[in-house]
Amino acid sequence: MKMQYIIERKRDGKELSRDEIEFLVRGIADGTIPDYQISAWAMAVYFQGMKQRETRDLALAMAYSGEVMDLSPVEGVKVDKHSTGGVGDKTTLVVIPLVAAAGVPVAKMSGRGLGHTGGTIDKFASIPGFKVEQDYQSFVNQVKEFKAAVVSQSDNLVPADKRLYAIRDVTATIDSIPLIASSVMSKKIASGAEGIVLDVKVGRGAFMKSYEKAHHLAQAMIDIGRGAGRQVVALLSNMDQPLGNAVGNALEVKEAMDTLKGQGPSDLEQLSLELAAQMIVLGEKAASIEEARDLARASLKSGLGWGRWQRIVAAQGGKLDYSRPSYGLPEAAIKEKITAGKRAYVERLDALEVGQAAMLLGAGRERLGDTIDHAVGIELFKKQGDLVEAGDTLALIHANDPVRLETARRVLLDAYHFSDKAAEKKPLIIETIS
Ligand code: URA
Repeated sequence: MKMQYIIERKRDGKELSRDEIEFLVRGIADGTIPDYQISAWAMAVYFQGMKQRETRDLALAMAYSGEVMDLSPVEGVKVDKHSTGGVGDKTTLVVIPLVAAAGVPVAKMSGRGLGHTGGTIDKFASIPGFKVEQDYQSFVNQVKEFKAAVVSQSDNLVPADKRLYAIRDVTATIDSIPLIASSVMSKKIASGAEGIVLDVKVGRGAFMKSYEKAHHLAQAMIDIGRGAGRQVVALLSNMDQPLGNAVGNALEVKEAMDTLKGQGPSDLEQLSLELAAQMIVLGEKAASIEEARDLARASLKSGLGWGRWQRIVAAQGGKLDYSRPSYGLPEAAIKEKITAGKRAYVERLDALEVGQAAMLLGAGRERLGDTIDHAVGIELFKKQGDLVEAGDTLALIHANDPVRLETARRVLLDAYHFSDKAAEKKPLIIETIS
């Protein structure tokens, strides 16, 4: 088989066979196909797309291109969640303890953030002492004991996706539904969970800017998961503005903890409870979604989820001081308010620009391998639909560098759009596909 014919066939809109896809994925993983041929093929897919069957074959071939996690020593139906990436999305931190407290095992392998969206591992890594790397045995033992563990995805998992993603990142081929769906699902399948809840973000701060594209992506991922014998549910949720009020790693950990104590922002609580409920159903600890919602809410209200958080953090070496308002998380040296110039309604708060402002402060990475500052970020005091009076604080910037602060301040100001009239609030959860 020759790679140039595979590229040619995809360029001409033909459907690739399973053998061709497996040849391609093997060559990506073992390095025998050079970057330039992989780039040409990815661009052909970008323009020509892939049929469902091809997308499924690509995802499965990538899932088995390296090690796969064996979760069979853990009893029960193992579940996982995945968000397609948003700004201020710390739901995983809230959801894991709630689901674990309901008795459903969550063996979570997560990634680091890239671009304007944050990564779950970066958030956990902002907890002093928290170990995001564990060997297989410790990881499995912790899931057995506490029903949850969170680790950084190992280098040996899905090597084909790792190389393909790095090439797509520099060849303008990230934004392709079959490539995104197969990339995400290859990692979920290799991570070993039997039930997967997907949170597909839609809007300004998301990969998918329109409902139609998000719906299409969700369907493609569900199809791959089912093809691999997994139960999959997808929520479509709004990402026009950031989720919750905190953007930036340590600030988001604090907000997640406040939420577990029942003192978090209502949008974050609502989405976390719904994701947790869907996971509890897949984990077979509730017979209906209504019963699962009651269980998740009870875990939150009774403090069971909060207690489970503390045990998970301690099990992974994290040292938090629960008697302090900052919980002993890293804090930035400079805090600067942004205030409103006049009375108006916030018509829109652009998630993409808020995410970019946080990245400029040092909270995120432009390139894989960049170092990040866990302490910096943004606290939002006013969001879409809020009425502000002249002099009201819109947001508080947490910075460690005055030059970065100034650039971020300008971007953040641009993120706020005002109007004389109250704008209608958009629903947070747009659709559930199960
Ligand atoms: N996230 C992934 O893991 N892969 C993609 O292709 C896009 C987002």
